[in-house]
Amino acid sequence: MVQAWYMDNETTDQRLEHHKNPPEYISLEHLFEKTGVEYFKLNVDTYATDGVLSKLKKERGYTYEDEMTCSKECLANYEEKIKSFYTEHLHTDEEIRFVLDGSGYFDVRDGADQWIRIAVSAGDMIVIPSGIYHRFTLDTNNYIKAKRFFIGEPVWQPYNRPADDMECRKEYVHKLHQGFAQAAS
Ligand SMILES: [Fe+2]
Repeated sequence: MVQAWYMDNETTDQRLEHHKNPPEYISLEHLFEKTGVEYFKLNVDTYATDGVLSKLKKERGYTYEDEMTCSKECLANYEEKIKSFYTEHLHTDEEIRFVLDGSGYFDVRDGADQWIRIAVSAGDMIVIPSGIYHRFTLDTNNYIKAKRFFIGEPVWQPYNRPADDMECRKEYVHKLHQGFAQAAS
């Protein structure tokens, strides 16, 4: 079950939960309102045939898909690699991940520049909007397997912060001020 919470400011291991004291959770509804991050629940056992994923792909125009595994065994220079995923960045397109197995954390900035940590595991599909500052880390399980989707030819290029002059960033900030629920309707 996906959960999201505001992070503490501790610089200890990025793979820990980093809850505030006391913890401050945020509902998925508020997460969307505050950041534009969308969430879908899929069934990992039946997604290939139950039609939910194919409907979503069709509606949202996802024409590309692949699968990636991230673990100590699969990645050379694992420690370095997960540090690089954890560098704050944005993309010119949505980042779409459907977790098949394992778990991890997507951290996104809200409008007040606070980090919100989103804990994802099997069955969670998350859509991170273009232009939002974010980062990813594995958790202490050190393993995630996920599908990636894209509209058209995939572009995975990250732009590290600061990237405030980029068009996608300006568009995102505009939506942030306008309100996401409103922008989506
Ligand atoms: Fe990213």
